[in-house]
Amino acid sequence: MGERLNILIVDDEETLLDIFKQYLESFDRYTVFTARNGFEALNIIKNEKVDCCFTDISMPRMDGLELVKKIHLHDNTIPVVVITGYPSMDRVISTLKNGVIDFLTKPVKLDQIPLTIDKVMRERALFINNILLKEETEKNQKLLRINKELEQKVKEVETMNLILQQLNQVTTNRELFDMLVNLSGQITACDEAHFCISAQNEEAPTIITSFFRNRKKAQVNSRPVEVEILQKVVADGMPLIIKENHGSDNLMAIPLKIRNSIFGILVSLIKGGTHQFSERELYMMHFLAEKASSLVENLALYENIYENLFSTLYAFVETIEARDPYTRQHSTRVTGYATLIAKALGCSQKDIEVLNVSCNLHDIGKIGIPDKILLKPGRLTDEEYEVIKKHPIIGANIVGHFSMWTDEQAVIKHHHERWDRRGYPDGLGKDEIPFLSRILSVSDVFDALTSERSYRKKLPDGIAAKIIRENSGTQFDPRLVEAFLDLFHEGKISSEEPAQITALPPKGH
Ligand SMILES: [Fe+2]
Repeated sequence: MGERLNILIVDDEETLLDIFKQYLESFDRYTVFTARNGFEALNIIKNEKVDCCFTDISMPRMDGLELVKKIHLHDNTIPVVVITGYPSMDRVISTLKNGVIDFLTKPVKLDQIPLTIDKVMRERALFINNILLKEETEKNQKLLRINKELEQKVKEVETMNLILQQLNQVTTNRELFDMLVNLSGQITACDEAHFCISAQNEEAPTIITSFFRNRKKAQVNSRPVEVEILQKVVADGMPLIIKENHGSDNLMAIPLKIRNSIFGILVSLIKGGTHQFSERELYMMHFLAEKASSLVENLALYENIYENLFSTLYAFVETIEARDPYTRQHSTRVTGYATLIAKALGCSQKDIEVLNVSCNLHDIGKIGIPDKILLKPGRLTDEEYEVIKKHPIIGANIVGHFSMWTDEQAVIKHHHERWDRRGYPDGLGKDEIPFLSRILSVSDVFDALTSERSYRKKLPDGIAAKIIRENSGTQFDPRLVEAFLDLFHEGKISSEEPAQITALPPKGH
C-alpha cells in the first residue's frame, strides 16, 4: 500500500501505547495517534481522518466493545481491531455486526500488527464496495418499482380511455351490451364473458350476449355460470371474484345498477383454473360497469324522448294519409321498399335508421297543403302543382326543429329531386342529391304507381317496374334502379306483399 495511513491505538497502559507507536512509526508509512481511553479516542476520531484503530478491550469507564460501537456510529467504515485476552469471541461477535472488526489476542506479537492493518484495510475496501453496491441495487430496485408503478398507471389510464371511447360510440342498449362483453375480453384475461339481464321476480338472470376468446372452443353451455352465484350478486349488489365456478373456473361478476337497483350482471370467466383475475382487472371492470350503467340510464331517457317525438310526428303522417284513402299506408310501404334496397346495397345500420325515419316522415310536409289541392280528384293545375311542390321543404322544416334529425331533414327535403336535375325543390342532380333521397325516390314512385289513385287504376307491378327502368338515368340513379330491379325480379319487392316493417324505428341514433 503506497498510501500513508493514520492509525489510532487505544490502551489504558501508556507503556504499551509507546511500544506500538515506536514500532509502527519505524515503517514510515503510518502516522500514529494514541489515546488512553475511549473518550480520548472518540475525540481523535472526530477530528482526524483515522484509517484504522486498535483498541484494548478492558479499559475503565468505556470498554473496547463500547468504543467500537461508538466509532462505528460515527463512521462504520473505520476498521477496528480489538486486542483481547478472552479466548471465546461469541459474545463479541454477536454484538458487533456492523463495520469492519478484527481481533488480536494477547500477547500481541508486534509483527502481526502491519499484517493485520493490511488485512483490515482490504476488508474495508470490500466493505465500502458492498455498501456502494447495496445502495446502487436499492436505487435500481426503487427505480424499477417506480417504473413499474408508472407503467401500471399508464396502462390503467389507457384502459379507462378505451372504455370511455368505446362507450361513447354506443347508441343503443343492444350495442352497449355487446360492447360490454367485448370490452371485458379486451381489459381482462378472461376466456369468456357474458352479460345477463336481471329481471326482478325472475328465477335466474338471463344471458343476453356473450364473448368467447376462442370462438372454436365456444361451448354451447346454456348455464355457463352457476345460478346461485348470479343470485348472490343480485342479493348483495357487490362485485365478486369466485375461485370455483363449476369446479375449476375463476369467475368475476360485476352488477350494473341504475339508482341502486340491479338490472344486469357482467360475468367474466377464466376456464380451467389456469390463472386468476387480479385486483386491477376487478377495478377496471367495476369502472366499466359504472360508466355503462349511467349510459343505460341516459339511453333510456333519450329513447323515450325520441320515440315520443317520432310517434307524434308519425301520427301527423297517419292523419294526412287518412284524409286521402288512396295514400293510406303509403309511407309504411315506401319505408319497406327503401329498407330492402338499402340493405341490398350494404348500407350501414346508421343509414338504414336515417332512411327509416325519413321514409316514414317524407310526406309530413303535406300537412301544410290545403285539402282542396291535396285531395282534389283529377289532374292539378300548374298553380296547384306549385303548391304541392312545397311539401318537401315544409317537411324538412318540421323535422329540422329537432337537432338529432339533420340527416333526415336533408333526405326529406330532396326526395323529389331527379338524376337529370329536373326535380324540385333545388334542381340538384346526380351525386348532389343525398344518396338516401335517391333510394327514397325510387321506392316512393314504385308505391305511387302500384297504388290506386282518384284519376287512375293501380298499375301492375311489372308495368311499374318497367316505368322505373325506362326512367333510369333521367329521373333515377341508374345504380339504384339496378338494385331495385334485382330485388323485384327476385320477388323481394312486391306491392302484394310489401315488406313487413314497423312504423316505429326500433331505436334512436
Ligand atoms: Fe313526396
